Amino acid sequence: MTTQRTVLITGVAGFIGSNLADRLLSEGFRVIGIDNLSYGVLEQVPEGVEFHKLDIRSSEIYPLFNQVDAVYHLAAKNCIADCQIDPLETSDINVTGTVNVFEASRRGQVGKVIYAESSALYEGSSVMPTPESEVYPQSFYAVSKLAGMAFAEAYRRFYGLRTTALRYFCVYGPRQDYRRTIPPLMSAFVINLLQGKQPTIYGTGEKRRDFIYVDDVNDFHLQCLDDPRTDGNVYNLGSGISYSVLDIYKAIARLLGKDIQPQFKPDLPGEADVTLADISAARSVGWSPHVSLDEGLIQSITFIKDKVLTQP
Ligand SMILES: NC(=O)c1ccc[n+]([C@@H]2O[C@H](COP(=O)([O-])OP(=O)(O)OC[C@H]3O[C@@H](n4cnc5c(N)ncnc54)[C@H](O)[C@@H]3O)[C@@H](O)[C@H]2O)c1
Repeated sequence: MTTQRTVLITGVAGFIGSNLADRLLSEGFRVIGIDNLSYGVLEQVPEGVEFHKLDIRSSEIYPLFNQVDAVYHLAAKNCIADCQIDPLETSDINVTGTVNVFEASRRGQVGKVIYAESSALYEGSSVMPTPESEVYPQSFYAVSKLAGMAFAEAYRRFYGLRTTALRYFCVYGPRQDYRRTIPPLMSAFVINLLQGKQPTIYGTGEKRRDFIYVDDVNDFHLQCLDDPRTDGNVYNLGSGISYSVLDIYKAIARLLGKDIQPQFKPDLPGEADVTLADISAARSVGWSPHVSLDEGLIQSITFIKDKVLTQP
């Protein structure tokens, strides 16, 4: 008989955390989840997760880290615009909170910590596709992720904590947070088009983004648990393809059979013109993305039709 393994996810009520919890439960793991519900929502936490409404900065999280095989640390203040307005809280959550999670993992003798960095670390680089070495953060959000990275390195060096850092590009899929003031563009396009409204494009629509479907990201999450080659390393998680905002708009309009022209508004400040991941590091340990843009969009559209637009 094999023993059931236990994983803990911070940020479990958020987009990536809730999708990861689903996947781990379906693979037979016991899943403990932490979230303070500042951005995430309780209804999003999959049934079967042992949920604790806690803040990652609190010492109350420590007992939960005992006898945990692995931790996925995803909780963060991650809206770049909000982080710019409040650098102090950004540091408090993304730096102090992250150190608290590393400390809880050390005390609990957690086997492995897999944690979220971001492609925002490449804000100041123009090298395309961008490899992991091009770290030039510019925003407060990216700087806070850089600090987390330095602490992970120190925990590895001084306490032997096994960590893997993941630099997500634009992750998309079911449960993306569509309630934000400026929601992720795919959800916004789908919701507006389904409601017969004119979607908004900020700028000319020529900005390009590397989109990666959440299931592909979860494949790598799972791999990091047991693959010692990933210990102490950092990986870009993108598709290695970049699409313009207009490409995405046209793909969604085609899949929905809608012929509505978008409205254009002034560009949002501080947004990169292009993001494009060099994914050779993740490929070198056997991972590759499998979900095509159309397949991923169809899954996202189905979720919005069934679960979002049916809500009162
Ligand atoms: N989604 C992407 O495309 C993307 C890209 C790059 C990096 N990331 C990183 O991946 C991680 C997950 O992103 P996501 O898209 O799922 O974000 P999300 O906002 O949907 O989820 C984050 C969750 O963390 C929770 N949280 C925030 N502060 C907390 C605190 N102090 N204590 C406890 N919980 C707290 C929120 O309530 C939310 O449920 C984040 O660290 C983010 O910076 C995401």
